[in-house]
Amino acid sequence: MRHLITLEDVSSAEIERIYAITEDLKTKFQAGIREPLLPGRMMALLFEKQSLRTRVSFEACMTHLGGGSILLGEDAGFGKRESIADFTRVLSEMVDVIVVRSKKHSTVEEVAKYSKAAVVNGLTDESHPCQALADLYTLREHFGSLKGLKLAWVGDGNNVAVSLARGCAKVGMSMSVCAPEGYQLPKSFVDKLKQQVPGADITLTDDTTEAVAGADAIYTDVWTSMGQEAERDQRLKDFANYQVNGKLMAAAPKTAVFMHCLPAKRGEEVTDEVMDSPQSIIVPQAGNRMHVQKGILVWLLGSQA
Ligand code: CP
Ligand code: NVA
Repeated sequence: MRHLITLEDVSSAEIERIYAITEDLKTKFQAGIREPLLPGRMMALLFEKQSLRTRVSFEACMTHLGGGSILLGEDAGFGKRESIADFTRVLSEMVDVIVVRSKKHSTVEEVAKYSKAAVVNGLTDESHPCQALADLYTLREHFGSLKGLKLAWVGDGNNVAVSLARGCAKVGMSMSVCAPEGYQLPKSFVDKLKQQVPGADITLTDDTTEAVAGADAIYTDVWTSMGQEAERDQRLKDFANYQVNGKLMAAAPKTAVFMHCLPAKRGEEVTDEVMDSPQSIIVPQAGNRMHVQKGILVWLLGSQA
């Protein structure tokens, strides 16, 4: 059984396969055709944290593909009424895929351990692989191809940054990660990635201007992620010089695009001016969550039809 827990679970060729399916289905969708490639398949969405994009995009894509979905929120008692192992064994008797958004990364790994169904990570404290796949697809649409592009990450070296770093390495993009001290991508992670993906081009810096020089995309995320609310005051101070604003965008090439996984805290990590600028591709980026997740679901489940 294949799962998508981190981007370690997909090869570069499989990412291309997912993108080929996505492109085909998106073209058909735009022509009004919703091809039911997964009729009768069931997806459970297990969420321990809030979501708009991940929840709606997965529900919409499963419906378009001819399957169904069930949202399991607080009332399912996940992690409370019974062990995660028992919960998962039962759930995976009845559904084909389980999307999990968990507080701890180890929870989604535990679900994958006991599941007979495919498990997809819908965000943990450590990674957000579906987001990164949709982001890179968005850049592929915008620039025509990915190889040789440079992504500048300005902000917290968090879950989204980790998945983007893996993704960039796998598709032949370079990534410059700019974060204040204490918030950078873990060096152990970067070292391991460079071993796993020969040629991975990941640069760490604390200089925002250096990071965006020559970049094709400038990307940021909230300074305080879900679950870190108690650290908010400290983080506001630590990230004060890391805002993506008009001045920073002016240090990047004019052709660079602005990206954000959303939700954004306008006025903190990014200004209104940048969010709403012609360079901003945040809305099609979010829309591609749905299209790329169709590619992911068909890739994961299609061969077991
Ligand atoms: N980007 C993202 O995952 O958004 P949600 O938290 O709304 O799902
Ligand atoms: N880093 C953010 C991403 C939200 C999609 C968080 O974990 O809250």
